[in-house]
Amino acid sequence: MTQLSVNVNKIATLRNARGGNVPNLIQAAKSIQTFGAQGITVHPRPDARHITYQDVRELKPIISTEFNIEGYPSREFLRLVLEVKPHQVTLVPDGPDVLTSCAGWQVKPNASLLEDILSELKNNGIRTSLFVSTDAAEIEGCARVGADRIELYTEPYAQAFHSHAAEAVIPFSKAATFAHGCGLGVNAGHDLDARNLRFFAQNVPYLEEVSIGHALIADALYDGLETTIQTYLNCLNETAE
Ligand code: PXP
Repeated sequence: MTQLSVNVNKIATLRNARGGNVPNLIQAAKSIQTFGAQGITVHPRPDARHITYQDVRELKPIISTEFNIEGYPSREFLRLVLEVKPHQVTLVPDGPDVLTSCAGWQVKPNASLLEDILSELKNNGIRTSLFVSTDAAEIEGCARVGADRIELYTEPYAQAFHSHAAEAVIPFSKAATFAHGCGLGVNAGHDLDARNLRFFAQNVPYLEEVSIGHALIADALYDGLETTIQTYLNCLNETAE
């Protein structure tokens, strides 16, 4: 079954709006795992507008599931992940000022940077993943530079879901099959939600993990975290039947 990793950035955004410690990020991450999510994802950014480096250090000891840290591989980011040693690091090509990740890696021009970093992460026992589009050449590049997995950038699917879901999912099912053939594991994320997730999971083979933040935390405002996590898990579970 595809694992659900909950991105807790937005809980930190809410906390940071007032300073102080409400809502409590650590307690929320514990609850999310108790409610059945199989992982916690964080994406610390250089301006620390949501998750801080200190949050990442404090989360590590309470993770009983899988810890996935996403980010651009700056020196500071690499120092942090080599200190914290999560289960998985997902590298994204984001510039420091983007609002949210908005593109996958162009692997070729970054190949030597990625090769060095991926091998250092692997030598430290950390599984690696590269955020990437459905482009076959980019996916092949991910395998060539030594990634363990890719994370498919799902925003184009989410955008097209309401008007033409069947068509929109095809590049993702093809990309996942191609990645599997290249020996890569397949994760996915960005703009997945309770409406588009089930169809995505039903149609994309080899899907090991989805990381979902914005929509899940927004849904939790209405339904609560426990019910919301169950809703998202059901979208993934029903796929297996
Ligand atoms: N994957 C990556 C690389 C991201 O940057 C984000 C957003 O932080 C996500 C997945 C999760 O996206 P969303 O918040 O839209 O669920």
